[in-house]
Amino acid sequence: MKYIKQELTEGILTITIQRPEALNALSAEVLRELEEVLDSLSKSSEHKVVLITGDGKAFVAGADIASMSTYNEKAALEFSQLGHRVFEKLENADYISIALVNGFSLGGGLELALACDIRYASTKAKLGLPEVSLGLIPGFGGTQRLARLIGVGAASEWVYSGEMFTAEQAKSFGVVNQVYEPEDLLKEGLRLAASINSRGRLALMTAKKTIRSGLNHTLSEGLRLEEQKFSSLFGKDESKEGMGAFLEKRKPQF
Ligand code: CAA
Repeated sequence: MKYIKQELTEGILTITIQRPEALNALSAEVLRELEEVLDSLSKSSEHKVVLITGDGKAFVAGADIASMSTYNEKAALEFSQLGHRVFEKLENADYISIALVNGFSLGGGLELALACDIRYASTKAKLGLPEVSLGLIPGFGGTQRLARLIGVGAASEWVYSGEMFTAEQAKSFGVVNQVYEPEDLLKEGLRLAASINSRGRLALMTAKKTIRSGLNHTLSEGLRLEEQKFSSLFGKDESKEGMGAFLEKRKPQF
C-alpha cells in the first residue's frame, strides 16, 4: 500500500494515513486504499477496536484540492459519493474506531474523524471545515455528522466561518472527547483501545448499532429498539460469562 500503513501495537491495530508531502490530503487514490483496508478488516472480524491517525504534522488536511480543482460537476459528485461510501463503511464497521487527531484535521480530514466512534486530539491539532473559503461546502459528511454530533447552532459556526479551532476549543464544542500532549496521544489511544478490547465483542457491537440506529429514530422508537437489543444479549455465552464473573468475583474472559 502506498498511502496507508497498518501496525499492531500491543495487539491493537493502528491505521496511519501516510501522504505527508500533501499533509495526508485525501485524493481518490488514498480513499480507495483506505476502502481496501476497511473491506479486509470487515472480512477478517479480527479487531474489536481500531485506531486511525495521520503521519507527520497533519491528521488529514482535507480532500485533495489539487485534484478537486480539475473536477467538473460529475467528477465532484463521484468524489463525494466515494468519500461517503468509504466513511459509511468506517462508521458502520464491526469494530470501534478511535481517531487520534495528531495535527491538522480539516475539511475531509475532520469528516474522517467524525465518521469514527471516538476522537482524541493532541494539543497541536487544529480542526475545522474550511470548505467555504474554497467556494465549496463539506462533501464527505461534515454538514450532516457535525450537526448531529454538536447540534445545528454549533455546527453552523464551524461550517459558515470556515475557521480553524484549537483542540481545546474543539473539546468544548464536543467535537473531540479528550485532548492530550502530543507525546501522550498514542499512549492514551492505546489505553482506551485496551479497555474497549477487554469487553465483550457482541455487547460492543450491539451497543454501537443501538446508538447509531437510535439517531435515526424518535426517542420513543429508540427506547423500543434498546429494549430489543438489550434483551437479545440474554442467554448468550458473553453475558453468561460477564454476569457470572461478577457474581464469582473474578475478571470475565471475553
Ligand atoms: N489538498 C492538497 N494539498 C494540500 C492540502 C489539501 N487539502 N493541504 C495541504 N496540502 C499541501 C500543500 O499544497 C503543500 O504542498 P507543496 O509543498 O507542494 O506546496 C503541502 O501540503 C504543505 O502544506 P502547506 O505548505 O500549506 O503547510 P502549512 O503548514 O503552511 O499550512 C494548512 C497547513 C493550514 C493545513 C494548509 O496546508 C491548508 O490550508 N491546507 C488546506 C486545508 C483545506 O482547505 N482543507 C479542506 C479541503 S476541501 C475538502 O476537504 C472538501 C470535502 O469536504 C470533501
